Amino acid sequence: MFTEIDHVAIAVNDLDAAIDWYAENFGATVAHRERVESDGVEEALLAVADSYIQLLCPTSEDSPVAKYLAKKGEGLHHVGYRVDDCAVALQSVKDHGGQTIDQAPRPGSRGTTVAFVHPKTSFGTLIELVQE
Ligand code: CO
Repeated sequence: MFTEIDHVAIAVNDLDAAIDWYAENFGATVAHRERVESDGVEEALLAVADSYIQLLCPTSEDSPVAKYLAKKGEGLHHVGYRVDDCAVALQSVKDHGGQTIDQAPRPGSRGTTVAFVHPKTSFGTLIELVQE
């Protein structure tokens, strides 16, 4: 079902500092930047071929990413796999006894449809299913 790695998400405390670091070291530029209020994050997508590095920064104290940073510090947060049909991929996880965070696909950033799979049943990795 996976068609591409859509993005690798990295939680950071200072979004602008992280963007500058990627620009200075690798010449990476921001392809898309968006505040997703429903998730309590601001994100910047840096293009890497047909995939992205997604830098994630919390916009509120009670955002899940804020809690993650407080508990684990900066670093790898989740992997986004691109799929043709988010609902089908999510149902497959459920059918195989997996635990999901989202019970149904929902709107993600840049007009995508997404659903998260709980790391508890996916070997410690938070997975985001991304349908463009
Ligand atoms: Co993501």
